[in-house]
Amino acid sequence: MAVSIDGARVLVTGANRGLGRVFAESLLARGAAVVYAGARDPAAEVSPEAVPIKLDITSPDDVAAAAARCADIDVLINNAGIMRLAPVLAAPDMDSARAEMDTNYFGTLRMCRAFAPVLAANGGGALVNVLSIVSWFANPQNSSYCASKSAAWALTNAARIELRRQGTLVTGVFAGVIDTEMGAAFAGLPKVSPQRVVDQALDGIEAGAEEVLCDERTRSVKAALPHDLTEIYPAHQARWDAAHPG
Ligand SMILES: NC(=O)c1ccc[n+]([C@@H]2O[C@H](COP(=O)([O-])OP(=O)(O)OC[C@H]3O[C@@H](n4cnc5c(N)ncnc54)[C@H](OP(=O)(O)O)[C@@H]3O)[C@@H](O)[C@H]2O)c1
Repeated sequence: MAVSIDGARVLVTGANRGLGRVFAESLLARGAAVVYAGARDPAAEVSPEAVPIKLDITSPDDVAAAAARCADIDVLINNAGIMRLAPVLAAPDMDSARAEMDTNYFGTLRMCRAFAPVLAANGGGALVNVLSIVSWFANPQNSSYCASKSAAWALTNAARIELRRQGTLVTGVFAGVIDTEMGAAFAGLPKVSPQRVVDQALDGIEAGAEEVLCDERTRSVKAALPHDLTEIYPAHQARWDAAHPG
């Protein structure tokens, strides 16, 4: 189910900055007919050639209004996300875990549910969820975010099954640290540029790919999953123990 970007009508969530803004600009550069740029703050600046849409994905009213306004889209890019840099147990309360789940899982789910009929009506198209290397393992430093991205991964895989018959390509995009404001929390780790992530994601959609793994670290972690307890977690345990002595 390859989907052409040239002539596509696309909605990108969280399109005012970071990866989302690069998605919007690259879609336009590749010939998308319309790019709706979702931003939760209506005063936020988006790419001048995009159509701004007020869209907080945690707001049922905003999502319903966007589904009505953007009823012509054939590609949805669920990019919006938050990361609070909170561990699951050492955090003072569950507020970060709830906020991350509310945005990254329930917000994305709300968008998928609202737009699945839109994509069906427009011939199938593509549903793209921006996931993460930490959909596959829990980094203790930001583990409640990891849990929300794991949940979004499960959602993506389930949505693919439900939407296959209507002809919708469901693509998960996975990356390690991306060089954006969110990625700034991870000094010292290798970073992939937002442009490189977007280029691979859009190439993936055009090739009908169901998963796009955007950097070497992401590919090696996916390959190590059958041995995650011995190949992935010991280094994280050592870092956690060093940062939390006693
Ligand atoms: N950066 C990384 O290292 C990394 C790695 C793997 C995956 N990702 C994923 O990539 C995606 C983009 O992240 P990024 O690096 O571009 O982060 P970012 O620079 O922090 O930008 C996040 C974007 O999401 C928007 N957003 C947050 N909550 C929202 C909501 N409730 N409704 C609508 N928009 C909302 C933000 O809007 P405001 O401007 O209003 O805050 C902003 O436009 C996220 O899904 C993230 O989890 C990031």
